[in-house]
Amino acid sequence: MKYRIPKGTVDLYSPHIHYSQAVYSHACHLFTRYGFSEVVTPVFEHTDIFVRSIGESSDIVHKEMYTFNDRSGRSLTLRPEGTAGVVRAYLGNKQTNVDAHQRWFYFGPMFRYERPQKGRYRQFYQLGVEIFGCENPYYDAELIALLAEYIESFQIPEYDLKINNIGCKECRPTYNRQLQEYLSRYTSQLCNDCQYRLSHNPLRVFDCKNKACRQIWEEAPLIHEAACPSCQSHYENALFWLDQLDVSYVQDPFLVRGFDYYTRLVFEFCSNKLGAQDAFLGGGRYDNLVEEFGGKPTPALGASFGVERLILLMKEYEYSAQPDIPFYYFVVFDRENCRQNVPFIQWMRRQGYPVLIGDYNRSLKYQFKEADRKNADYVLIRGENEIAEDTIQVKNIRSSQQDNISLSEFKQQAGSNNT
Ligand code: HAM
Repeated sequence: MKYRIPKGTVDLYSPHIHYSQAVYSHACHLFTRYGFSEVVTPVFEHTDIFVRSIGESSDIVHKEMYTFNDRSGRSLTLRPEGTAGVVRAYLGNKQTNVDAHQRWFYFGPMFRYERPQKGRYRQFYQLGVEIFGCENPYYDAELIALLAEYIESFQIPEYDLKINNIGCKECRPTYNRQLQEYLSRYTSQLCNDCQYRLSHNPLRVFDCKNKACRQIWEEAPLIHEAACPSCQSHYENALFWLDQLDVSYVQDPFLVRGFDYYTRLVFEFCSNKLGAQDAFLGGGRYDNLVEEFGGKPTPALGASFGVERLILLMKEYEYSAQPDIPFYYFVVFDRENCRQNVPFIQWMRRQGYPVLIGDYNRSLKYQFKEADRKNADYVLIRGENEIAEDTIQVKNIRSSQQDNISLSEFKQQAGSNNT
């Protein structure tokens, strides 16, 4: 073939597409019950917003962004994540001056130049939620409980929720110094990336997967132990509300997440069914980002699902995303037979039934085979006799049973099946 799909990307079509449709429609349904509305931001933004928010020394900014100059020489970047663009949109929204409390969700493609593997792509989808203007730790717990409810709506019974307290801009500098002091004892044993991190942003050392570096950071001072009283109280209150909301979690002292904007409570949902890329949802608080973008001090928190990883789990636990209404294939004999049946077929479609009409220039044999290929549930036929008698032939493809039933009975059944 002349043109191959770019590395790390996939085409989406049936049946896989039913899963992403289910992800989106469940989100619209559930998240609106918690006061969220959808926000759609551009897939590219000015490069600077990602560099400033995610952090220059993060892997994403350092190695993974798709950055280009447009024809006017502006540096733009295909969004590697959704939060920065949503914060920019929050600040551009007049409503936020009146009511700082906003709840938004989004669904769309993100782009990271990573080494593709199972569950890791260069273009992937995220379903994200962001809450602005809520400082109370109750909301950290409520957000996590909502995400757990959403996951369970796909009958995913098992996952691990890891949480940690990574402090705020008041206590982080003290911790950074402790960490730097500790790591500098091992400088020569750290990989080149970590040596750079050590001098520029020591917290990013925890993102390193290198075995030797890991052995070193596993013995490092713990970030949650360095949290100030106010961060500690926030964290303990969030744990209290998680217990009240019946959410189970494990505290992971090494979870720091790969972005500089996080503060206080961070979390990740992981599954051992996913292989090496086991995190399918991650998030936390980012209480300073709005202000760093030029807005009023506005506490905020959020999280994003990796949609492909969520779908892997849905498949692993045999969630059926197929629409549970039957799919009909209408076989037509010729042009005239098609003309006579079209009003009825249009009626069915208006009732909400998917119906595909066979091509009257093709043989009946071809149309039956096509019905099979298209995974239709029923074949429908109305020839001269059925039209004269106001009936319809209904063939169940799976059982091969064929019945001739009155049109009014069929309409009644179709109406009642589709409520
Ligand atoms: P993140 O942890 O970088 O956080 O990404 C969220 C999720 O996206 C991950 O848990 C993972 O499932 C998925 N993901 C990341 N990279 C890839 C990839 N290359 N291929 C497939 N899936 C991937 C964020 O992006 C934050 N913006 C989340 C957030 C929202 N924090 C606050 N609000």
